[in-house]
Amino acid sequence: MKTIFSGIQPSGTLTLGNYIGAMKQFVELQNEYNCYFCIVDQHAITVQQDRMELRKNIRSLAALYLAVGIDPEKATLFIQSEVPAHAQAGWMMQCVSYIGELERMTQFKDKSHGKEAVSSGLLTYPPLMAADILLYKTDLVPVGEDQKQHLELTRDLAERFNKKYNDIFTIPEVRIAKVGARVMSLQDPAKKMSKSDSNKKSFISLLDDPKQIEKKIKSAVTDSEGIVKFDKENKPGVSNLLSIYSILSGRTIDEIEAQYEGKGYGDFKGDLAKVVVDTIVPIQEKYTQLMESSELDEILDRGAEKAQFTANKMLAKMENAMGLGRKRR
Ligand code: TYM
Repeated sequence: MKTIFSGIQPSGTLTLGNYIGAMKQFVELQNEYNCYFCIVDQHAITVQQDRMELRKNIRSLAALYLAVGIDPEKATLFIQSEVPAHAQAGWMMQCVSYIGELERMTQFKDKSHGKEAVSSGLLTYPPLMAADILLYKTDLVPVGEDQKQHLELTRDLAERFNKKYNDIFTIPEVRIAKVGARVMSLQDPAKKMSKSDSNKKSFISLLDDPKQIEKKIKSAVTDSEGIVKFDKENKPGVSNLLSIYSILSGRTIDEIEAQYEGKGYGDFKGDLAKVVVDTIVPIQEKYTQLMESSELDEILDRGAEKAQFTANKMLAKMENAMGLGRKRR
């Protein structure tokens, strides 16, 4: 059975972008693959986090993974910092990375641009991500479009390591959904929807209540044409809403366009809000139950144990390949 690995940062509540671009795929994939899903808290601290908030967000993300439908009997769910092999392998991957290639990562450029004090962790974030993936002999990494460059670097680093030291890593493939790989901001459809956006109207959080969701969709930026039609170039706002509608309703964009022919954006947005609310409310109900139960800790304990078992085997191979420590029998 092929292996899948993916991770999400516990920094702020998840958005509809995270759900559509990543989690929704995870739920479908867990039936066919050996899956590892990770709460990457060490990636989150590349920018300063409030200690209490981070702890809260880690638990909340674990509950959300389960609430959207990740089944701990099928997939391994765990917290990155609870499997020390990640940081250890991350260090080794840093030592095979070049500063120049890390500085070229667009996410590093975006996050460091104009800032005076930038943590070195922000620069060495991708080798840690490579370690996450490579420790599990991962075949496939389902992510949104914004992670594509990090995946290309992961492949380069794995190939470099294999050539320089020993041929131990599986070269992972990226898996990006055809629709919804880049859900855009509701306020500025040229930007991706992001939980760190200072304008809260630009994203829908998986924990927003139905009223908030309705308000945010009604105030989403469109255009003055009044025609519900998919045209990314000229109608980015409407196209983004159409993609969301299509993915969450399971209907094609053509069908939805036909339904709103001759109608304005009001009806379209009202119905889209219902589709989003119908998706999110059941997730929230499950989420609330999970946050109050002890089940969550048991699942995370078991997940960390399972992940460690696999990760430690690859870590030993990496250390052997590089000549760290003493020879193991
Ligand atoms: P993060 O936490 O920023 O995002 C988690 C997942 O959500 C996807 N995503 C989106 N997809 C579509 N539209 C959007 N607007 C949108 N915003 C976010 C992301 O592409 C991602 O799949 N570096 C990663 C975390 C990570 C990881 C890994 C991922 C660490 N190690 C190993 C895969 C494998 C990140 O910051 O994702």
